Amino acid sequence: MKKFIIETYGCQMNIADSELVATVLKTAGFEQTNNIDEANIIIFNTCSVRQHAEDRVKGRISNEQARKRDKSDLIIGVMGCMAQRLQEELLELNIGVDFVVGVDQYHNIPNIINDHLKIKTDFNHQEVYHDIYPTRKGKFNAFVTIMRGCNNYCTYCIVPYVRGRERSRPIDEILKEVEIAGNNGFKDITLLGQNVNSYDYDGIHFPELMEKVSQVESIQRLRFVTSHPKDLSDELIKVMASNDRICKHVHLPMQSGDDEILKRMNRGYTSDHYRQIIKKLRTAMPNIGLTTDIIVGFPGETQEQYQKTYDLMKEIGYDYAFMYKYSPREGTKAAEFTDQVEEKVRLERLKEIIELQREITLQKFKGQIGSVKHVYVENISKKSDLELSGKTEDFKIAVFKGEKSLIGTFVDVEITDATSGTLIGKRV
Ligand code: 5AD
Ligand code: SF4
Repeated sequence: MKKFIIETYGCQMNIADSELVATVLKTAGFEQTNNIDEANIIIFNTCSVRQHAEDRVKGRISNEQARKRDKSDLIIGVMGCMAQRLQEELLELNIGVDFVVGVDQYHNIPNIINDHLKIKTDFNHQEVYHDIYPTRKGKFNAFVTIMRGCNNYCTYCIVPYVRGRERSRPIDEILKEVEIAGNNGFKDITLLGQNVNSYDYDGIHFPELMEKVSQVESIQRLRFVTSHPKDLSDELIKVMASNDRICKHVHLPMQSGDDEILKRMNRGYTSDHYRQIIKKLRTAMPNIGLTTDIIVGFPGETQEQYQKTYDLMKEIGYDYAFMYKYSPREGTKAAEFTDQVEEKVRLERLKEIIELQREITLQKFKGQIGSVKHVYVENISKKSDLELSGKTEDFKIAVFKGEKSLIGTFVDVEITDATSGTLIGKRV
């Protein structure tokens, strides 16, 4: 029997897609392995969102081709956003790639392997893989894809070009997948999409979907990523605030704090509109966890415009932020802008906001001292066998002393200390 391994890069969508492809392959008679030495098929699930992500995985693939010397039947495949973006180019790079499969062609992976095909990257703008219920890695958190693609065309972003148009999965299938996951012990469910707030299937919108999913008996926690500020509705805030199973955490990419830059990014909101949403979220749910994505050094970004991002990050005080320096992506509008910011400046700005956010996170986490958190216990702590770690409702890692038998249960933990990344506490 042929054994395969999938190495995943990039976002949670890719993690979910790797589970989907593993399920397709297992159904077709292949066996999954976690040991790369045993594999006859190595598949790289790739990301294109920044150049660095592509360079890294190309290096990884190139390293693995050496295995072909000892194992003549070994094949290396590339799936995901970089496969979709570069297509034939990946075969021509001479880094050992045997096949390339695009984001809407995962059903065909067994044929590609069995028939020694090289490439299949056609788009199918209706594809939602609705008949596949993935078997999952891990034990506690399940990612359930509710929509694919993106229609927003933020001017820096490659995603609409490589993942195609936005399409929502039928609600019945989402509910079935959540039920299966819940019955298999996954109590914490994250609904996934590039822009979940624009979910629309047969007139059912995201708040209604959240309500329906939260009623699935076997689950305890419900989350969602990613939200777009222009589509996050009052209705959703109301549903979140009134539903105990919906986690009080929103990941709301701000990208920039400057209105002109936001306009050039085609984000569809102003900094004031963004502030308003944060205010509404905090009014409805005072302890809500907030995280964000930020890009610095977008084309044309002046020092003053950058400063507005810095100031808005400080003003809002996120629990955590994913921060990036702008990376031009060929084919996107912003890559054509003639006023690109010098690499050195981009890097300086990035370093500065990373430092700012580190301080804010520490302050935020220290601010939790004295509170009691409901923790879903997932692991033995990395640092000590006597400690356990788990996730709070507002998406923070908490560590505390406890017996292994608590793994998989929910416990209350009083927070006694914090670092910028971990809450430390004791069971109460
Ligand atoms: N350069 C830098 N960061 C980017 N992102 C998307 N495209 C780019 C790019 N070209 C960031 C955005 C997005 C996150 C997933 O990646 O902040 O929200
Ligand atoms: Fe990219 Fe914007 Fe779509 Fe997010 S919403 S995937 S940043 S185009």
